[in-house]
Amino acid sequence: MRIDTTPIIRLEDYRPSDFLIDNVELDVKLHPTETRVIATLAMRPNPEGRTDAPLVLDGDELNLRTVALNGRTLAAEEFEASPQSLTIAQAPRQPFTLTIETEINPTANTKLMGLYRSSGNYCTQCEAEGFRRITYFLDRPDVLSVYTTRIEAERDDAPVLLGNGNPVESGTVQGSDRHYAVWHDPHPKPSYLFALVGGRLGRLSKSFTTLSGRAVELAIYVEPGKEDRADYALDALERSMRWDERVFGREYDLDVFNIVAVSDFNMGAMENKGLNIFNDKYVLASPETATDMDYAHIEAIIAHEYFHNWTGNRVTCRDWFQLCLKEGLTVFRDQEFSSDERSRPVHRIAEVKTLRARQFLEDSGPLAHPVRPSQYREINNFYTATVYEKGAEIVRMLKTIIGDEDFRRGMDVYFERCDGTAATVEDFLNAFADVTRRDLSHFARWYEQSGTPRVKVKGQYDSGAQTYRLDFAQSTPPTPGQPKKDAMAIPVALGLVTHDGSPLNATCDRVDARGVFLFDKPEDGITFMGVTSLPVPSLFRGFSAPVKVSLGLPDEELLVLLRHDTDAFNRWQAAQTVAMRLLAARSTGAEVSHAQIDAFSAALASFMESDAQKDPAFAALVITLPSEADIAQEIGQNVNPDAIHRARTEMRRRIGLSCANHLRRFHESLADTGRYSPDATSAGRRSLRNASLDLLAAADPSEGESLAVRQLESASNMTDRLASLSVLTTLPGAVREEALARFGERYRNEPLVLDKWFTLQAAIPEDGTLERVKGLMQHPAFSIANPNRVRALIGSFAMLNQVQFNREDGAGYRFLASVVLRTDELNPQLAARLLTAFSTWRMMESTRRSHAEEALRSIAQKPNLSRDVGDIVSRSLE
Ligand code: ARG
Ligand code: ZN
Repeated sequence: MRIDTTPIIRLEDYRPSDFLIDNVELDVKLHPTETRVIATLAMRPNPEGRTDAPLVLDGDELNLRTVALNGRTLAAEEFEASPQSLTIAQAPRQPFTLTIETEINPTANTKLMGLYRSSGNYCTQCEAEGFRRITYFLDRPDVLSVYTTRIEAERDDAPVLLGNGNPVESGTVQGSDRHYAVWHDPHPKPSYLFALVGGRLGRLSKSFTTLSGRAVELAIYVEPGKEDRADYALDALERSMRWDERVFGREYDLDVFNIVAVSDFNMGAMENKGLNIFNDKYVLASPETATDMDYAHIEAIIAHEYFHNWTGNRVTCRDWFQLCLKEGLTVFRDQEFSSDERSRPVHRIAEVKTLRARQFLEDSGPLAHPVRPSQYREINNFYTATVYEKGAEIVRMLKTIIGDEDFRRGMDVYFERCDGTAATVEDFLNAFADVTRRDLSHFARWYEQSGTPRVKVKGQYDSGAQTYRLDFAQSTPPTPGQPKKDAMAIPVALGLVTHDGSPLNATCDRVDARGVFLFDKPEDGITFMGVTSLPVPSLFRGFSAPVKVSLGLPDEELLVLLRHDTDAFNRWQAAQTVAMRLLAARSTGAEVSHAQIDAFSAALASFMESDAQKDPAFAALVITLPSEADIAQEIGQNVNPDAIHRARTEMRRRIGLSCANHLRRFHESLADTGRYSPDATSAGRRSLRNASLDLLAAADPSEGESLAVRQLESASNMTDRLASLSVLTTLPGAVREEALARFGERYRNEPLVLDKWFTLQAAIPEDGTLERVKGLMQHPAFSIANPNRVRALIGSFAMLNQVQFNREDGAGYRFLASVVLRTDELNPQLAARLLTAFSTWRMMESTRRSHAEEALRSIAQKPNLSRDVGDIVSRSLE
């Protein structure tokens, strides 16, 4: 096993900085390989710090030219400098000015942290610890400074120069072909929110007036010629700004708000103050190049980054352990926004699907960690589904427990108290505890304890007494570093449903007016009175807590919920639960009678008959079976992905056959009208149409093939085109190869579309896929240095293709290991992300398990691994 010797950073060791930086003046002379940065820092000792401490500034691969204290250049013996740090042993005990000149090479920066070039443009990424790659600094989120940035560049090379805050001045550098711009950000901020951009960019803009009448110029900068592909993003920005005013009372606070799209970016986007930088896939969209899902993601991420202006920027984090304070809360806010703009139940189902696929998976494997981790080696490895998605679920549970009004009041108090500060999870919870006068200390355990709680429920009806009793028991399995678990405070939103859907006037004094029972002990039971007939319990309505539930109800009773529950989430859940039972049983060789499958198909058919037209988006979700990865997670041990694939394919076929008439009708009646709109209703129709096509093709491949080919040829938008191509990828043969080749040719100059094409091919569940993926790595559009390309091709192979990544001969694992090692030399963050695909290795059957372990060990024993990859590989093997 790898002994990781990199130091561990612990929450309990937190102490305030010994020095503060009140003001930063940056002078950046952009140059492709020799960028000069002069930082003038107004500093002082922190009254809360130690009085005898040396001044130690962080650096990362920096090249120091000069350093001056109060204007006097320091001699070599007055400081100690390395690429990693700059130390002044005898720093003044009263305010002083430090001037530091560094030189950096943006072109050589393939890690995409700090200042780098993307398609010839200069841009930055400073979260979490990228600012130290630009200049030496106290690069920690509790050091807040006011920044003024002067950016200078050759005018032809970078006609557009952008910084944080408001523009104050620009002009030509006398006697040269260089120009400059000065930006000032009046809001004190941590260094991770710093950004600058220089480049040749097109612009799309719009004016916005805030609630209190402040004029703001909104602008999105993209590759020249693609301005019209930013109009949806700009519209989403405007809607986000209005929504935050209306729902949270939060206004924007600068004269400009700029967004820049870049094509080389490690994550989705970044909330730098007044200057958000985005992965271009979350900005650019046109009906010809983007799917409905792309539009939905753009809307959500634009909102997310904008909402950070209050939850993240105005109120920031004291230290990186508090990351969920801004990320969980901001994800919650963007989810609420999308729910208001689209269909709330449909959006909730989509959220839960991702939570289960990503966070439940993480929480059940070697990388499980609390929403607020207590230690880390590399903070970039903690931008996880747990911090983001489970973090959002905690905020949602809080709202469920205290109610909408108190939630809003608590948020107001939080903003009022913490504005302009670097806060903690405790500050957040205290605002709600004070407003509600509730003790939230038990609830706070959600931040500390990792693992997904399991809740077992048993129901018992007493027809004589007309009572219905529900007994609850909870437990949480051990996770790394946490062998013993305590009971959690779990809000259970619930109700009783009768077999014929008629209303029931049952009451229970343990259930509050909003229909919520707070289950906060290892075991508890509640009794409903006035239950006049045998009910079916509808538990965790709206997925009121991130737990796994087991309820021993027969399929027929669960399917009553699909028909009659008033809670749409639980209607969907009922169908999923029944499907999952059948799929898991089939995949593990357990007996499943034809009658059981027929009964399920019949329930789906009658649902389609009665409901599908009313809400096509919802119907599409109901008729889509759990994914192969979901089934593997449900089985949990000794997994054989081939068996899962066979079981799921067979089940799709059976449903396709028995519901063929409905499916054909949907596919026909919901056909493309030629006028594309990305709104949720139109997207919902397309999703039902395409889910129908998928099942039809499973039932009758030759009918499926001809329908898909026709759709591919006639589609007027990317959603329908890609969906039909996706169906064709499940049908081996010349038709598929021809279609793939033509699609690749048609979009050869559209990298974001080729990413979809890479993904579809990487996901083909056939033996030839590994060779196909290797071949595509030679495609002219592929680049191992571009994170979008790598994730689309290699990431999809590892994360979406259960049968081929987990090949029995181990070739999938060895391939991923080799790509991880290659990528690690260029971009450790990207490599570490890819590597997390191995986190399921222990649940595989023994042959696969040993191949995976061998591949992991081959990575672990390599010298000079990055801290990012070293951390993930050692935790994966622990
Ligand atoms: N704060 C960004 C967000 O909106 C994520 C940036 C993370 N970047 C990183 N290198 N870890 O979620
Ligand atoms: Zn975020």
